[in-house]
Amino acid sequence: MNPSPAKYSRITGTGSHLPETRLDNAALAARLAADGIETSDAWIVERTGIRARHFAAEGQLASDLAVIAAQQALQAAGRRPDEIDLIIVATSTPDMIFPSTACIVQRKLGMHGGAAFDLQAVCTGFVYALATADSMIRSGLATRALVIGSEVFSRILDFKDRGTCVLFGDGAGAVVLEGSDQPGLLASELHADGRHAGILCVPGQVRGGAVTGDPFLRMDGQAVFKLAVGVLDSVSRSVLARAGRAADSVAWLIPHQANIRIMSSAARKLGLPAERLVVTVNEHGNTSAASIPLALDCAVRDGRIRRGHSVLLQGVGGGFTWGAVLLDF
Ligand code: UT7
Repeated sequence: MNPSPAKYSRITGTGSHLPETRLDNAALAARLAADGIETSDAWIVERTGIRARHFAAEGQLASDLAVIAAQQALQAAGRRPDEIDLIIVATSTPDMIFPSTACIVQRKLGMHGGAAFDLQAVCTGFVYALATADSMIRSGLATRALVIGSEVFSRILDFKDRGTCVLFGDGAGAVVLEGSDQPGLLASELHADGRHAGILCVPGQVRGGAVTGDPFLRMDGQAVFKLAVGVLDSVSRSVLARAGRAADSVAWLIPHQANIRIMSSAARKLGLPAERLVVTVNEHGNTSAASIPLALDCAVRDGRIRRGHSVLLQGVGGGFTWGAVLLDF
């Protein structure tokens, strides 16, 4: 335990990685058609805004994507791996049941010591992980963290279920979060309501050396849609109130990238113009816990998000879970 913990935490570097294979809607539709499943670019674009997604290569694991994203974030922060004393990987598609993907990432980065663990809050995972790292830094349990969202959702998609398999993609995003005298993270809020566990889940288990039950992602899309629109608005207002900030002070809104209709509604409800919404769902699909750090890194690297800009991150997903983080970049 650090005897004089930092007052705040702030992001000092960002990184991301997408696997090489990119499938646009037409290519995915052709692949599904070979199995007698009908879909179209027009349906996918109109209902979701998704035009393409990336899929990991055979044998490429969440830790492989995470390590590349983490190396980029470390480089951007000007930090060596041995200066990090906490790794949190938000993932629902870990390399194995245990050890955690975070421990595997730690080894692949050539590090040892410090804490490393996975955090499972499905698509809200990165928001949960960032808020957790922030409180660990401010309590003195850690000084410098790698916070990563990494997913290979292609492994849990049922390519015979057109209602879900067109929505998701693979990827990773990472940030370095460090103790600081200046804010940084201004306010966070996390929520869960397990009564809705069944509307978005992978219900299978490993038991007695075999998978029992259904090992594929299942979703009641309309139920998720309705809940998401309501909770994203309420949690965002609450986080802004905690920080004493008005909605129009937000320079960039980065919602979980699941569906452009949900994201646009989140911006509209806060009274923010569409130009302040960071959108990557069109090119990445829904990458679950990776979607927010991927979008953050894209907007930092293309120069939209600059030092001092106020950024609101909004997560929502399976559990049912949701949360938001307001930060000055
Ligand atoms: O990351 C976690 C957060 N997840 C989300 O935020 C997802 C939230 N939900 C959604 O984004 C939307 O509900 C979906 C995009 C999943 C679905 O959109 P929808 O407007 O709710 O469509 P629907 O499920 O009501 O389906 C409408 C029609 C159905 O046909 P009928 O019954 O009206 O004849 C579906 O069978 O569209 C059909 N359909 C498709 N057609 C072509 C469903 N999937 C497809 C498809 N291609 N891929």
